[in-house]
This record gives sequence, C-alpha cells and structure tokens, in this order.
Amino acid sequence: MSQQKYVIDEMISAKSIAARIEELSHDIHKEFEGTSKLVVVGLLRGSFVFIADLVRELDLPVEVDFLEASSYGDAMESSREVRIFKDLRGAIEGRDVLVVEDIIDTGHTLAHVTDYLKTKSPARLKSIALLDKPARREVDYKADWIGFEIPDEFVVGYGIDYAQRNRNLPYIGTVRFTDQ
Ligand code: IMP
Ligand code: MG
Repeated sequence: MSQQKYVIDEMISAKSIAARIEELSHDIHKEFEGTSKLVVVGLLRGSFVFIADLVRELDLPVEVDFLEASSYGDAMESSREVRIFKDLRGAIEGRDVLVVEDIIDTGHTLAHVTDYLKTKSPARLKSIALLDKPARREVDYKADWIGFEIPDEFVVGYGIDYAQRNRNLPYIGTVRFTDQ
C-alpha cells in the first residue's frame, strides 16, 4: 500500500522551540533545585530530540532513562490502549523524576505512564510535554509544564513522526495531504 502524498507546513520554528526550552528549564530548575539526583525519563521514541535539548539546559545532577509506551502504532489515531514496550533500566524509588513527552493528545499515554511510574514510589514525579492539544483530551490529564498549546492538527518534526518519517525535521510542521 503506497502512502498518500503530503506536504509539511511550518508551525513552530526551531528558534521558537529553543527559546521556549530555555524558559522551561528555568521553571524546572526552580522546582528541582537542591535535588541529589533528577531522573529524566524520556518516552520513546517521539521525545528523543526534546529530551536531548532539554537536559543540556539543565544545570542539575541529571540521569537519563527511557521508557517506551505506545498507543498509536503507525496510524494517525490513538488506539487508547496503552502498553509499556520497554521499561526503565534504573530504579526510581525515592528519586525525583521528570517525565518528558512529545505531545499530549487524548491524554491516555501520559495518564497511564504516570500511574505506572507512581507504583515505583518516586519522591517527586513531574511531567513536561513539548506540545499539548487540549481540544483532543479524553482523560483528565494535565502536565506540569507545556511547551506550546496547539490546535487539533497532526504534526511532525523535532522527533515527532508520521509513520516513522519526518522525525529529523528541526521544526514542528503540520501535515497536509495533497491530491497526488
Ligand atoms: P495520547 O495518548 O493520545 O495523549 O497520545 C500521545 C502520543 O500520540 C504522543 O506521544 C505521540 O506519539 C502521538 N501523537 C499525538 N498527536 C500526534 C501528532 O500530531 N503527530 C504525531 N504523533 C502524535
Ligand atoms: Mg509518543
């Protein structure tokens, strides 16, 4: 099955993303100042670019770990059933934890992941998402920090994919299907 053709229109520039991450890092600093260790947990795969830029702005004792949860597969619609494919490598009991996500859409993924991480008894558990589509929310979930609120449009770039493509774009763009 060949994929429908599409073009990508820039929505958020690389420069705006960098500026916003700098602001967010100040807030995160305020929250975690004095921590003996902050475990920054990236949700694979969409958060890999965001987490890389974010941790480099954090002047804190940081460890990085990853967790893979998935509700989308290769489709444009959430399946609403969240599964953990890959668990953390390290223990987070008694630790400060920051979960890093690319987008909050229906809210199922982060709601499920944070409930799961709470069972591991972290000292503090906070979450940050680069993008939020509040119009799409199905479960009541609010991240502690959000980069940008965006309208109900499918986006790619800066780590975020459409059927595994376009993660390498340095900016966030919307997907617009063309006739041919
Ligand atoms: P949620 O469980 O519906 O909140 O879905 C969150 C996940 O869906 C994100 O981690 C993304 O992987 C994916 N997702 C949501 N919106 C988009 C989008 O516009 N483009 C690409 N992936 C998306
Ligand atoms: Mg994701």
